[in-house]
Amino acid sequence: MSGYPIVTKRRLAPSITLLEVKAPRVARKAHAGQFVMLRVSEQGERIPLTIADKAPEKGTITIVFQSIGFTTKQLAAMEAGQSLADVLGPLGRETEVEKVGRVVCVAGGVGIAFIYPEIKAFAEAGNEVISILGARNKDLFFFVDEIRDLSSELHLCTDDGTLGAHGLVTDVLRGLLEKGERYDKCIAIGPIPMMRATTALTKEWNLPTLVSLDPIMVDGTGMCGSCRVTVGGEVKFACVDGPDFDGHQVDFDELAKRKRAFVEEEQCLLAQAAEELEKQRDDTNTETPS
Ligand code: FAD
Ligand code: FES
Ligand code: MG
Repeated sequence: MSGYPIVTKRRLAPSITLLEVKAPRVARKAHAGQFVMLRVSEQGERIPLTIADKAPEKGTITIVFQSIGFTTKQLAAMEAGQSLADVLGPLGRETEVEKVGRVVCVAGGVGIAFIYPEIKAFAEAGNEVISILGARNKDLFFFVDEIRDLSSELHLCTDDGTLGAHGLVTDVLRGLLEKGERYDKCIAIGPIPMMRATTALTKEWNLPTLVSLDPIMVDGTGMCGSCRVTVGGEVKFACVDGPDFDGHQVDFDELAKRKRAFVEEEQCLLAQAAEELEKQRDDTNTETPS
């Protein structure tokens, strides 16, 4: 079979899908913090997705993604047995995993998929991991049991109070720090406002903080410049210099601005796709014999 076959598909939450994909070479070489660039079809665009898990013995990698636009919706419509056109990776630098002591891991939304391999790697390296996971509501959590098994403490919170503490991950982290808890490292992964707020808080407490950045990536190999970010006043390319960076040094304003660069085109493509689908439905209804 050509391409990269999907072995398993699971819906983890509304609009969040897990795919286990056969990609033996990637599975053999992948480390925490790395990602793949994949194409659903030969005509499609390349998108970056974190390698959330790997099973080298089966030759598979796991990706978990939120359907937010044209390509992620196309990907969510794929079924086990179908194949992706290509899966390039592992790309990016692996996270520097060392035994530092107590590591507090903070993730919001689909950031839970990004942080899971990091939690696994830091726990396996002998660290005590304290996890704080947040989501808009109780239905949007996933990997909770897996993360609980790897953590000495798991704190959940929701924006609407439907599960765990009512509030943001930063409220939980602030509460723990103010209670006297001390950590040697923080890893914060999620939407830009969440990473910005977490790094502002950890700066107050002098807590070294790693973030994983998700700027727009086109080639994923350092050639096109689309993933340019500024860290500590220096230009970096997230696909080859990251995606992990010192959160206290990141220019989040620039990152947020650059991520919105193609919003009009992206919305246009989605609207066109919806129109196409509607037309196909109309044609099918007209052709149905009475
Ligand atoms: P579009 O409608 O095209 O875009 C929606 C928004 O997604 C855009 O406004 C932009 O902010 C972002 N985006 C669009 N194209 C890209 C692109 N080529 N690269 C990066 N961002 C883009 N998402 C997950 O759900 N799970 C993951 O594990 C994950 N890992 C990532 C790892 C890295 C290193 C990076 C850089 C991004 C990761 N993302 C992940 C984000 C994911 O790549 C985008 O959500 C996806 O590309 C959106 O494509 P779309 O066509 O569906 O949406
Ligand atoms: Fe092209 Fe990083 S994605 S340089
Ligand atoms: Mg797109």
